[in-house]
Amino acid sequence: MKTRSLAASLMVVGAFAGASVVGAAETLVKPVQPAKNINKGMAELGKKLFFEPRLSKSGFLSCNSCHNLSRGGTDNIPTSIGHNWQQGPINAPTVLNSSLNVAQFRDGRAADLKEQAGGPIANPGEMAFTHDLAVNVLESIPAYRAEFRKVFGKDKIDIDQVTTAIAEFEKTLVTPNSRFDKWLKGDKKALNADELAGWNLFKNSGCVACHYGEALGGTSFQKLGIVEPYKSLSPADVTKGRGAVTGKDADRFNFKVPTLRNVDMTYPYFHDGAVWTLKEAVDVMGRLQLGRKYSDQENAQVVAFLKTLTGDQPKFALPILPPSTDQTPRPTPFAK
Ligand code: HEC
Ligand code: HEC
Repeated sequence: MKTRSLAASLMVVGAFAGASVVGAAETLVKPVQPAKNINKGMAELGKKLFFEPRLSKSGFLSCNSCHNLSRGGTDNIPTSIGHNWQQGPINAPTVLNSSLNVAQFRDGRAADLKEQAGGPIANPGEMAFTHDLAVNVLESIPAYRAEFRKVFGKDKIDIDQVTTAIAEFEKTLVTPNSRFDKWLKGDKKALNADELAGWNLFKNSGCVACHYGEALGGTSFQKLGIVEPYKSLSPADVTKGRGAVTGKDADRFNFKVPTLRNVDMTYPYFHDGAVWTLKEAVDVMGRLQLGRKYSDQENAQVVAFLKTLTGDQPKFALPILPPSTDQTPRPTPFAK
């Protein structure tokens, strides 16, 4: 897994102090590329599974419940609602552009999208099902059996095929063509003066040291609260952050730097979902990460820049899911 240390990132900031400031920063961020090499049949099946509430114990929660593709791939609430209206421990990150992440989850505990997709189905606080039961449901529906056979060429459905197909669909959820990307590609009219001033502040004050790459984030784990501590609303096992994976106390409060693509749509912000506005998020980041208090005008310019990062949202026909049969296990929405 490739990760960058903060020291390396801050060296990057240091590099901007030189004469080649602009060149350096603009190679650190890149336009989002359209999805490539997608297995269409597999992604189509994965799309059904992403919207499939029968992969949950209640028959009610699908991936799309918490990663709503009509709302930037998030649920827009501080922490998610799981089976039986359980309060989740952590804010749901967007699934948009998640294929660009160095690892999945805020602490990076899943290596990739396929490994990630197995988690929520069996998580008692989320979809609260088991992989075996999820496969039984799919096996009981002839249209699914036929579609899995067509895509994977096997007689039996297994969880590996389910997560592979979901991951293939998720690879299509990239958002190219934001106004910032048009500007990066040379359309100098794509940004207005305030937005451009915001990009210059973002670049020159050091935000780009952590929020870089195609997704402006997703590339490294960094401490939240470098100059000043962050007062988190989350339980202690969440604020372990990356430390939950590495076992190191020094990695407490280290989180995957989130993507800033579509950040205008993915409020509320941070792992605890405590901050509802970009204005406040930018103020917190400036003070806690960089020891810099932006003026109201500077803050508004950075916010204006962040709003130019909204790209083309995924466009597709809503999948129609095949009906259950007499053999399909019934959902148990109110079972504990
Ligand atoms: C009950 C709400 C809920 C459901 C249902 C749910 N998720 Fe999530 N998802 C979350 C939360 C919360 C996180 C963050 C957990 C963490 O980082 O520890 C997350 C994280 C993720 C991530 C990692 C993104 C990143 O930037 O690290 C991906 C990808 C994802 N979910 C995809 C899925 C898929 C696919 C499904 C369906 C199989 C699904 N989710 C079902 C709430 C949900
Ligand atoms: C040292 C690394 C670092 C620097 C510098 C940094 N950030 Fe962040 N940023 C993070 C991390 C880590 C998080 C996630 C914290 C969490 O999950 O609670 C984050 C979260 C955010 C979020 C919330 C996104 C979301 O979806 O929750 C925004 C907005 C943001 N940063 C903008 C900025 C801006 C603007 C700057 C410059 C003023 C900046 N960041 C500087 C590491 C950094």
